[in-house]
Amino acid sequence: MQIEINGELRKTKILLNESAIQERVQKIAQEINQHYPPHETLVVLVVLNGAFVFAADLVRHLQMPTEIESIRIRSYVGVQSTGCIELLSPLPHSIVNKNVLIVEDIIDTGRSMDFLLKALNAHGVKSVRVCTLLNKPHEHLIPIQAHYTGFEIGKNFVIGYGLDLDGKYRNLPHIVEII
Ligand code: IMP
Ligand code: MG
Repeated sequence: MQIEINGELRKTKILLNESAIQERVQKIAQEINQHYPPHETLVVLVVLNGAFVFAADLVRHLQMPTEIESIRIRSYVGVQSTGCIELLSPLPHSIVNKNVLIVEDIIDTGRSMDFLLKALNAHGVKSVRVCTLLNKPHEHLIPIQAHYTGFEIGKNFVIGYGLDLDGKYRNLPHIVEII
């Protein structure tokens, strides 16, 4: 598959296939199930739009009572992080005094997660943990340590399984890197 970015045709390569992703999602869910008390409500806070596919697969393996909430933030235009994080929807009131698990598609510079963690901690949650499908450790500008990480990847821009390029390609069942 070739992709046009700023008028230039770029090659792509499959980085993570469907079965590798599904296997890892199950493993992460097991770790989450082991950490939280089995009868206490967990609020899964899905960072839209990118994490919707990952979260949909992940929550189906969780065993405690869960509530699903979502939040919209934006930091990217095309393949560039703008450095300016916007909260596009208010934090849900139902997270107050609850165990909250943030589900994110990718941690790149770490700015979005840093912003979100600060907002949540100021909102009076009982606990907060971070679950990210992908992590780009070499791109961090702010040190963020997720509690659950699907895969550590390199610096190339990736799309598919919820991740987009200007709103497109989220529907791919696998993850593709742009080379
Ligand atoms: P950060 O604030 O730089 O950590 O960026 C996090 C957000 O940028 C993620 O939630 C994604 O929406 C987006 N992002 C970062 N890297 C990629 C990528 O390689 N592909 C698609 N989206 C990305
Ligand atoms: Mg995102």
